[in-house]
Amino acid sequence: MSWIREGELTIIERFCANIIKAGPMPKHVAFIMDGNRRYAQKCHVERQEGHSQGFDKLAQTLRWCLNLGIREVTVYAFSIENFKRSKEEVDGLMDLARQKFSRLLEEQERLKKHGVCIRVLGDLPLLPLDIQELIARAVLATRNYNNDVSESLLDKCLYTNNSPDPDLLIRTSGEVRLSDFLLWQTSHSCLVFQSVLWPEYSFWNLCEAILQFQMNYSTLQKARDSYMEERRRQQMERDQAYVTKKLQQEGFASHGDSRRRRTLLQKCTAMREERIQGFLQALEHKRADFFERLCTVSA
Ligand code: IPE
Ligand code: IPE
Ligand code: MG
Repeated sequence: MSWIREGELTIIERFCANIIKAGPMPKHVAFIMDGNRRYAQKCHVERQEGHSQGFDKLAQTLRWCLNLGIREVTVYAFSIENFKRSKEEVDGLMDLARQKFSRLLEEQERLKKHGVCIRVLGDLPLLPLDIQELIARAVLATRNYNNDVSESLLDKCLYTNNSPDPDLLIRTSGEVRLSDFLLWQTSHSCLVFQSVLWPEYSFWNLCEAILQFQMNYSTLQKARDSYMEERRRQQMERDQAYVTKKLQQEGFASHGDSRRRRTLLQKCTAMREERIQGFLQALEHKRADFFERLCTVSA
């Protein structure tokens, strides 16, 4: 049986899905799947059974998302802090992740037909080292070009760079914190905290979260647009200041003639783009190396 079942929605679910789909839909939804152990306790089952049902709920939720036309989902399955749990629990969770995710990856080809891609990121304990090196490299690469350092460069350096920021982030089990999950990427996302425990998550809970997103859609959109506009404005201001300095160094009046100023501005933007591409490519190689080494070690 396929992990993400092909199953259709019930008639009533389909009816509501169609109504919801008439409004603006989130393209990317992130889930913090929380509450497995409380669920196990509540239902008097083993803790591992709670985690297992949590993974199965993920499969079901992915199917709902697919049916609702949500093509991108990011889930928080395990945090660095979770390594502090007992060895037995961590091993149990890792076994489940291996089992369920490898099945999901096997289904990749079929899912691609629906436009779904799967990316599993892990080994977070090694990430801080990676970040240290990234910062060191960035400092070296940009020491003569402070203008290169911007929020949009930081976006491009993150593991999530080829994915748009989540439109909606959902945390279950009544906890109202992000626990370090996608902190940078969710600054303009709709955050929805729901009291339901993850293994009990239902299609209706998902609809309720999407409705909250829709009710806040125009405010979120406005905030996002004005943030992007501000980023562009700041970059332009920095470039203008750089050109003014350059013109002064060359002995021109600070405003120079406008044609020369325009040419210099274009040149400075093109050169920055080239430097940034070089830096990002080097980073990508480093990352590929890192993952290759990781696979060799864990093979
Ligand atoms: C979330 O459920 C799953 C993981 C963190 C792996 P928990 O295990 O945190 O369950 P609660 O929150 O203690 O009920
Ligand atoms: C949160 O883990 C991460 C996941 C749900 C995977 P916890 O439920 O242990 O939450 P914190 O660390 O107490 O915030
Ligand atoms: Mg928890």
